[in-house]
Amino acid sequence: MPSAPYVEFDSLLGEQELASLIRIVHERAPYPTYGEGRAQRGFGEGIPQRYDAARNFVRTRAGRDPVGKLASRTNYFRETFAYEEPLFPEIGFFHRLPALVAAAREVTGRTIVRPAIVYLNVLVPGQELAVHTDVPEFRGANRTREPEWLLVAMHHSGLFERWRRVIATAVSWYHDCKGGEFVFYADGPLAPPRRLAVRCNTAILLDTDSVMHGIDPLAARGTELPMIEPGARLHRDAAGTWSVRRDEQVRAVYRWEDLRLSVSWKAWCFADPEELRLNETHADDLTLETILDTFVRDLCARGKRTRRDDPELAHAILEEYIRFPAPGEAAGSARGASLA
Ligand SMILES: [Fe+2]
Repeated sequence: MPSAPYVEFDSLLGEQELASLIRIVHERAPYPTYGEGRAQRGFGEGIPQRYDAARNFVRTRAGRDPVGKLASRTNYFRETFAYEEPLFPEIGFFHRLPALVAAAREVTGRTIVRPAIVYLNVLVPGQELAVHTDVPEFRGANRTREPEWLLVAMHHSGLFERWRRVIATAVSWYHDCKGGEFVFYADGPLAPPRRLAVRCNTAILLDTDSVMHGIDPLAARGTELPMIEPGARLHRDAAGTWSVRRDEQVRAVYRWEDLRLSVSWKAWCFADPEELRLNETHADDLTLETILDTFVRDLCARGKRTRRDDPELAHAILEEYIRFPAPGEAAGSARGASLA
């Protein structure tokens, strides 16, 4: 399998831009946990949004930690700064960063690049990110409506490529970390992964919807991982330290240097004006009915007995289409022990 293309940046931001971004991150705290995502209604109700990656994480860590501890390990802190447009003006410079737009063109081979999403992830010592692919989007199906695991299965199946919005993702870092390497499977899930050490103001841009990736455990530095469940918050304290809190209870305090901040940037990349027009006019959108009918037809063709009203249809889709790297190669597994 040919290597997936990617671009690395040794120095992404200028001095002023770097200072601005860090100031924004400091000023906009506290941050909620990733596990507080949208509750699903209808098809897939009751199944966690990233059930695909969470299930694989638990499988690969069986017996090492109790499930509650595993959840704290991957329940990192997440905030969105832009969705289609910047959510506040100060982040605009990062949303339209020319170096990222140029790299998105290079990696995808598509000329029309529309910056869309900016969000941050913060990990505290002891946390990691389970291997996964990011949530893709399709014309007529995206994470504001459909289950995230279903969108992932749609892309892995290859059945909906005609409707896919190709997304370029940049991940940028703002610490010099001990541990917490970015692990990615540029040569496919069956080949050994590559590991990038996290250095301040570096970045990588690639198709994270297609390339499996994760984060190795961030070095514990003698700090016990506190319980981090939905509802916990990461605060910036008056003294400049950072603390994990649940309501008024302070569970752990960290220096800024001990955290791992990444800021992700995503852009929709269109091949030509016609593809852009289809995207904007919704003239060729998928519906959930079409998606599920297509999966049922394909599962039956593969010899699986299922139908549209099968209560196990969701699990049949999860089981059939999403293939993870072997446990021995997964992020975190090399040093013993997070999700985007
Ligand atoms: Fe990710």
